[in-house]
Amino acid sequence: MTTVNAEAESGSPQADVFVIFGITGDLARVMTFRSLYRLEKRGLLTCPIVGVAVNDWTLDQLVAHARESITATGEDLDEEVFSRFVARLSYVVGDFADAATYQRVGTAITGASCPVFYLEIPPFLFAKVVQGLAEAGLTATGRVVVEKPFGHDLASARALAKDLHQYIDESQLYRIDHYLGKMGLEEILYLRFANAILEPIWNRNYVECVQITMAESFGVEGRGHFYDPVGALRDVVVNHLMQVVAAAAMEPPAGGDGTALQAAKVALYKATRAADPATYVRGQYEGYRDVDGVAADSTTETYLALKLEIDNWRWSGVPFFIRTGKCLQTTETELRLVFKKPPSLGLGIWEGHQPEPDQLVVRLDPSTGVRFELEARRAGVRRPEGITLDMEFADEGGEGPTPYEVLLHAALTGVATRFTRQDGVEEAWRIMQPLLDDPPEVYPYEPGSSGPEAADDLVVDHGGWRGPWTNA
Ligand code: BG6
Repeated sequence: MTTVNAEAESGSPQADVFVIFGITGDLARVMTFRSLYRLEKRGLLTCPIVGVAVNDWTLDQLVAHARESITATGEDLDEEVFSRFVARLSYVVGDFADAATYQRVGTAITGASCPVFYLEIPPFLFAKVVQGLAEAGLTATGRVVVEKPFGHDLASARALAKDLHQYIDESQLYRIDHYLGKMGLEEILYLRFANAILEPIWNRNYVECVQITMAESFGVEGRGHFYDPVGALRDVVVNHLMQVVAAAAMEPPAGGDGTALQAAKVALYKATRAADPATYVRGQYEGYRDVDGVAADSTTETYLALKLEIDNWRWSGVPFFIRTGKCLQTTETELRLVFKKPPSLGLGIWEGHQPEPDQLVVRLDPSTGVRFELEARRAGVRRPEGITLDMEFADEGGEGPTPYEVLLHAALTGVATRFTRQDGVEEAWRIMQPLLDDPPEVYPYEPGSSGPEAADDLVVDHGGWRGPWTNA
């Protein structure tokens, strides 16, 4: 919990009201109520909460919905905590296109000097709602939090920002990428920059390649309508996995203000070459086209593997391979550094033995852990053989806050580094744009497999794909 508490000291004003547009929707049901309840339980909620939606509900109905939503996530409901939480709630009914809605919101938040507006609504409504809030005079101070996607390519990401910047400043805009609330992502930064034995080897002198794997064993059932026009590249790479690339590859953030981390990330993106369709492999799991909402002739990728190259002194010549897919054999997200091959050994009886390269793995999901894969000599084994040194953080520190708890708390306390900035969003799209413009053919793969074989060719000169950890 130190992370969450430390964020209370961001120096930005604390929210004095939290306004949630779309409080009757899916994301609120699955994520928001539970996260707010858990913040309440930890004593980290301090302001009233105003829900806004078009559904003609009473406050009692909203409270009942909140209760069902929280218990449906498997959370044990403590009645005392729940009562404290719902005592904060009020509800405004209104159409987002109607100016009267924003007048009612204004009345509900009278006197607030730092309102935080959370837009859990489809992106095509972002500008309309922000305009409504601005015209009602509610955005002069405070913050607006939005959910992905931030455009569907570079041009639309720029257009969206232009629309929003008419009414609010970039510094007021907090874009959620839930990977920025993951402990594993922080772990990468801490391991790198808080350990003198790691920083000196974290570069092209020692690292052969970097492999980022985000495997999911489930498909897109129930989400076909959303997923089919999007695909894996837009769904998880341009946002989530680019956050992993940044944490793994950025320079140490310099300077103590809240912009240092974002500046380091953007500098890294700027050094990253636009991706090449020749090193991009796409796959689609068999059966995907039968999913409700998916086109019968869809060529959307549910799997991809790609290579990124970073042109700077730390990484030049070290490929960053990314692979992700639905319906794979396991669910796991990890960052893996594969170090250079040692020379073959001249140690007497092991003469000529070629040790395997060392590897360092940071697992982000399903739980956070770190693994070193080393070569070691043991009694009873003739040759040096691979050993693994593992640390499961859940065993050590217990369950940490979920990403949405971290992010909602950061929005309420004004910790901008937990959110993506427009220059970073645009850079990520710039890097991926050639792949969107010129997508290669899509290979079928069997559900439960590790994806199409064509993806192996991408890494053939670097010893093949390694891991993921749970498979090894
Ligand atoms: C979401 C994507 O943003 O991230 C999903 O839309 C994906 O398709 C999910 O499954 C993965 O998040 P996590 O936290 O489970 O790795």
